[in-house]
Amino acid sequence: MLTTENPWHVHLGDCIEHMAALPPAVFDMAAFSPPFPKLYAYTSSDRDIGNSEDLKGDAKLHLSFFYRQLVRVMKPGRVVMVHVAQIPRMKRSGGTGLFDYRGMNIRLGERAGLVFEYDWSVRKNPQAQAIRTRSRSLQFAGLENDRAASRGSLPDYLLKFIVPGENAVPIDSDGEVSRNDWIEWAEGCWGDIRENDTLKGDKGKEEARGEGDTQHICPLQLSVIDRLIRLYSNPGELVFSPFAGIGSEGYVAIKRRRRFYGCELKPEYHAAACRNLNTAERVAKVGVQGTLPFDDFDDSPVPLATVPVEPTPLPESEEPKKPTGRKRKAVKP
Ligand SMILES: C[S@@+](CC[C@H](N)C(=O)[O-])C[C@H]1O[C@@H](n2cnc3c(N)ncnc32)[C@H](O)[C@@H]1O
Repeated sequence: MLTTENPWHVHLGDCIEHMAALPPAVFDMAAFSPPFPKLYAYTSSDRDIGNSEDLKGDAKLHLSFFYRQLVRVMKPGRVVMVHVAQIPRMKRSGGTGLFDYRGMNIRLGERAGLVFEYDWSVRKNPQAQAIRTRSRSLQFAGLENDRAASRGSLPDYLLKFIVPGENAVPIDSDGEVSRNDWIEWAEGCWGDIRENDTLKGDKGKEEARGEGDTQHICPLQLSVIDRLIRLYSNPGELVFSPFAGIGSEGYVAIKRRRRFYGCELKPEYHAAACRNLNTAERVAKVGVQGTLPFDDFDDSPVPLATVPVEPTPLPESEEPKKPTGRKRKAVKP
């Protein structure tokens, strides 16, 4: 729990269940990357949204519950930043083209009551992406074979949502965002983000690999998080990442003297996040003071049956539903 001595907490467990047990309107800002279904599998748990085989079925259903809970725990008038990318359909399972994961998150967020306001794109290096993903659409071989299949690199998107209602405390703290910062950051595409500016080594992903179940984690660039936190929170406020991973959002939040609350399903990532947050506290040196508005809250897992939400009705079901709760092995894109 967050206390005056401890400015952060990461809950080990399913964020959807956990948010349902939190009081309403407790977080000042949220910044996170939802799991990328089909592309990255993080654990073998059927609560892991990364395990959803069926993007328009399971993944959509999980995320619709997720956004409903998120709106409830956020303070009115405050900002939710969601980091997503489009998902290439796997050739080996007969797919072609891209799945519009960006659009699905916007629609589900809006259906849950959030207001979609903007999105930044973050440049990705085409050569590095061609090598990493082995995508023929990007490689010279594809270009020279038949240009009909060629396309550019896939950028990241930072979706900005606002929680409906009046913002009780303006985000106006001094010294966080200068006019010169804003001249750069107001560009619709952030082209200056180093792709390897992520938590790594001691603080990073290698040590967080579980046995057999995890091939990848995709940590968010620290410089992206830094901009978002400085733009959309005041020092001392409470930042939330429901998919905390190895703790990148929390690491920056603490370094920037905010408080942090996270959830993470996978024990190895949870342990890495806690180590990274301890490091951030040491780096920040000055402790962040303040208690949670729910510090007598019971942190034990809540059974799914007690979650008091209605699922968002799914619209058109273009594909027949596959059985839910299927476990699959982690795969490389
Ligand atoms: C894209 S990663 C987040 C990485 C994080 N932004 C970072 O930089 O460290 C998504 C994370 O969500 C976790 N996850 C998947 N389903 C979850 C759930 N239902 N509740 C909580 N965490 C979940 C995965 O284990 C994974 O660590």
